[in-house]
Amino acid sequence: MNIITPTADGSNTLYNETIGEHYHSKHGALQESRHVFIDAGLKFVSAEKSDISILEVGFGTGLNFILSVDYCSQHNIHLDYTSIEAFPLTTEVINQTGYSAYVSSEIWNSFISNYNEALHHPQALSEHCKLEIPHTTLDNFTTVKRFDLIYYDAFSVQHQPEMWTNEIIAHACNFLKPGGTFVTYAITGNLKRAVKACGFTIEKLPGAPGKREMLRAIKI
Ligand SMILES: C[S@@+](CC[C@H](N)C(=O)[O-])C[C@H]1O[C@@H](n2cnc3c(N)ncnc32)[C@H](O)[C@@H]1O
Repeated sequence: MNIITPTADGSNTLYNETIGEHYHSKHGALQESRHVFIDAGLKFVSAEKSDISILEVGFGTGLNFILSVDYCSQHNIHLDYTSIEAFPLTTEVINQTGYSAYVSSEIWNSFISNYNEALHHPQALSEHCKLEIPHTTLDNFTTVKRFDLIYYDAFSVQHQPEMWTNEIIAHACNFLKPGGTFVTYAITGNLKRAVKACGFTIEKLPGAPGKREMLRAIKI
């Protein structure tokens, strides 16, 4: 069961009763998503590319997705977005988040109307934006595609340790192109070692409010 919960910046998140954790930071869902994934990830990669493929781990509410579409439409970027999700939410729950307020109605409506189909097949939301949400767990996910950017947005190591083992991080990193970028809201000694072992250089960046630091890593 997921319960809609307000966060400190006024945006909502969901509280997942089974896992015992929120989908986003209690200090601000919207500001965390913008800080970690858009500013440290997408903006960084878009300095050198105008055609960007993203692999997200944990689609959840789609907040990272809609903010990415918004950014790409404002900067004339072609976006190819694949997001693995083991437990997809219903459109009814997604509609209750209030996230439609953060993007144009055109972006929101094309997201909602393509969401269920995107769980089965890639969908073109516009000429410039494709979405696919493989309904599977990360460990069972495979593809021949390689991505420019990974948004690693799993529940925390305290609540879902199996999403932060060396093996699963290496599995995810395998889908990144050489020179590709990996961003996540978390940073721990184990995570840094796991990513370095995959041949990445790492950067510690200031975290979103409520977290001192976050990780950005580049595949050599
Ligand atoms: C922190 S939330 C993601 C928040 C999301 N990015 C958003 O913007 O709303 C973590 C997500 O990972 C999903 N998840 C849990 N276990 C998973 C697994 N083994 N493989 C893929 N996704 C998983 C959860 O269902 C949840 O949607």
